[in-house]
Amino acid sequence: MADTPSSQNGDTVCKSRGQWAGHLGFILAASGSAIGLGNIWKFPYITGDYGGGAFVLVYLICVVIVGLPLMLAELIIGRGAQCNPVGAFQHFHRKGSPWQLVGWLGVASGFLILSFYSIIAGWAIAYIIKSIAGFSGSAETIQSQFGALVTSPGASIFWHTIFMGLCIGIVVGGVQKGIERWSKILMPALFLILLGLMCYGLFGTHAGMKALTFLFKPDFHKLTAEGVLSALGHAFFTLSLGMGAMITYGSYMKKSESLLRDAVTVSFLDTFIALMAGVAIFAMVFNYGLEPSQGPGLIFKTLPVLFAETGPWVSVPFFVLLAFAALTSGISLLEVVVSYFIDQRGWSRVKATILWGGMIYLVGILSAVSSWQIPFIRGKNESFLDIFDFITTNYMLPVGGFLTCLYIAWIMKDKDRSEEFGSSGKLYRALRFTLRYITPVALVVVILHGLKLLPFMDYSH
Ligand code: PHE
Repeated sequence: MADTPSSQNGDTVCKSRGQWAGHLGFILAASGSAIGLGNIWKFPYITGDYGGGAFVLVYLICVVIVGLPLMLAELIIGRGAQCNPVGAFQHFHRKGSPWQLVGWLGVASGFLILSFYSIIAGWAIAYIIKSIAGFSGSAETIQSQFGALVTSPGASIFWHTIFMGLCIGIVVGGVQKGIERWSKILMPALFLILLGLMCYGLFGTHAGMKALTFLFKPDFHKLTAEGVLSALGHAFFTLSLGMGAMITYGSYMKKSESLLRDAVTVSFLDTFIALMAGVAIFAMVFNYGLEPSQGPGLIFKTLPVLFAETGPWVSVPFFVLLAFAALTSGISLLEVVVSYFIDQRGWSRVKATILWGGMIYLVGILSAVSSWQIPFIRGKNESFLDIFDFITTNYMLPVGGFLTCLYIAWIMKDKDRSEEFGSSGKLYRALRFTLRYITPVALVVVILHGLKLLPFMDYSH
């Protein structure tokens, strides 16, 4: 059990709580949170849409200047306070401080993201079963299966139930016996499956080289301002930042670990896995003479048409990979909410997980029924899934990240910060500079873009 931390005003904020059994446990759990649908589903399709190599390069720069510093910031706050996101801000500032709202925003974001993330993850599980049966028929027939799944509330709710059941089942087990234990099984399995698929893409198709060229040879003519902003927003989402997931996971870390080394490792693994998925997917897409820019339907519509040719031995591992990636992210989203109720309200883990997992499940049903639509700020009727996705990715996460950044860079005491970072030397000063002047500016740009307020962009369409 962790030492009991006390807040600045001497009050105990978080009582005895879980801790990772080992260093590897943290690395796998945090990479599990980061590596999710964002890596296997979103990264390849946005890379395809924005033209490949140049986009990848910008994305890598964004990971370094925005993602990595912010991940360090969250780990510093979390491990320093040994507390959930709300308690962590109370610990460093004071109880009742307005900064605890940042923690609250994180808990709310975790709740809302998991409610719709679970629907998409459920589709991935549904596609494992479809893959076992095999895809056959014309391209239209295969593609229409996805439409049928999305528009069938019963099916979406069924798979959503399975996914939420799995998340709840793991989180109920606790930090070591639930999250850590399952991350140690799911993450190596995910890596091996992806390695197999990447080797298939590189050597089993005729388009391995073409995929590598597409991903790694930058052609700046294809890069648009929109692409740069998507790279920035994605760097942020894919590293699970801005909503307290890394604060929560950091809070279970031992004081002896180097936060810099761990943040670099997790960011590297997340990026590496996204690139591996890109190689595997684009090699298959090019092998069958298709265009890379297929939009969000790339995974659930385009690939199944190719899988009809390759057979289940490629498609089953692929959707298992997607489901595993989603599961380790889903548990981190649930853990943020659960840790708040355990630490701050004194609930038992079982009660917090089942009750709040259940609430998230119920709200998720709104997103499962694609015909339930309401007019939203974008001026047309939209499904709850799209609206929740839009609000969290464009507003809640960037605002949460921005405020976390302001807090750590400008409000937190230099001593508290450097003590957790482990030094006050050159690297520390570089981090402080980045968090003060570079990361927040990049985040303001993301927020203004979400509000369609950037002067140099054309928002007329
Ligand atoms: N990082 C996850 C992904 O890439 C999503 C996520 C966001 C998970 C925020 C937790 C917190 O899919």
